[in-house]
Amino acid sequence: MSTLHRIEARILEPRYARGWHCLGPVAQYQDGKAHALDVFGTRLVAFQGEDGGLHVLDGYCPHMGADLSGGCVEGNAVRCPFHAWRWGADGVCDDIPYAKRIPPRARIKSWPTLLENNLLFVWNDPEGNPPIEEQRIPRIDACFDGQWSDWEVAELKIETNCRELIDNIADMAHFDTVHGTELDHFSNVFDRHIAIQHMRGRSARLSGDSELRTVATYFGPAYQITEMTGAMNGQPIESILLNCHVPIDLDSFTLRYGVLVRKVPGLSAEDNQAIAKAYVAQAQAAFFEDVAIWHSKVRVDNPLLCDGDGPVYQLRKWYEQFYTDVAGLGQELREPRSYTVLSREPV
Ligand code: FES
Ligand SMILES: [Fe+2]
Repeated sequence: MSTLHRIEARILEPRYARGWHCLGPVAQYQDGKAHALDVFGTRLVAFQGEDGGLHVLDGYCPHMGADLSGGCVEGNAVRCPFHAWRWGADGVCDDIPYAKRIPPRARIKSWPTLLENNLLFVWNDPEGNPPIEEQRIPRIDACFDGQWSDWEVAELKIETNCRELIDNIADMAHFDTVHGTELDHFSNVFDRHIAIQHMRGRSARLSGDSELRTVATYFGPAYQITEMTGAMNGQPIESILLNCHVPIDLDSFTLRYGVLVRKVPGLSAEDNQAIAKAYVAQAQAAFFEDVAIWHSKVRVDNPLLCDGDGPVYQLRKWYEQFYTDVAGLGQELREPRSYTVLSREPV
């Protein structure tokens, strides 16, 4: 007699991953305006101060709740549109035009930010600790090298919990069925806050007849960089892909998908940027193939796996670290683990 495998899915607690989350290209925030960010189940405000720094503060004014992203930037502060209290980059209220005394508790959270690779990052930590130095986002030299295009980034809202996206790191079996990519090699390495996926195969869409090779690395819970060698219209393309997300709430997230391409010698700057644009559109189409599945699937905490599947449980254990208080983290996270799921000579 067989036993049915029942799907289990516990209710997720309202907690968001500890780590750096990418908010897109820095240039997007350098216009002297206040920008609304719907992230981590709340609203934040991002702005560039006159000191050139990018600042992120809690988005709702504690005076009477107005949305600070509707206010204006003054010096290194943002002034609330409702009663004009002004909030400095450090989160301290430094001016109330009609008050003799500023209440001592007039302070909001100033979120740690990081500018790296021409991208803006914000640090989320439910325990309120400062960023972990080891988890700093590494520099990509290509971002500062004239032989490479600028970032071409697309943004889309996805209506599911971001954990579904993370499963992709270890989900080997969907590459063929969903993305039409036939694989010759697939392996994962989990090492501290880093998760790597090595893949080799062929994809009509991303590499034509030639081999597609990718090394995709998550640095922390929400920022993945992929080095990829593929082809488009017969032209070999060396690219670096950005795949990052930030949760809006427990049921949705913003996905940002970007690409840097090594410029093809002999082509104009415009033509090279056009290749990057076309490539990001192509890669976005591949994401939409996943999205179609995500929008109608259910969460499964106890997936029923077979011997050809990737290390989904080990991946989820790796990812759980970002939802665990620092005091509860085990030493085993510091022991790198690798799993080779498939390795055969290309046909
Ligand atoms: S609500 Fe912001 S100043 Fe009153
Ligand atoms: Fe996918």
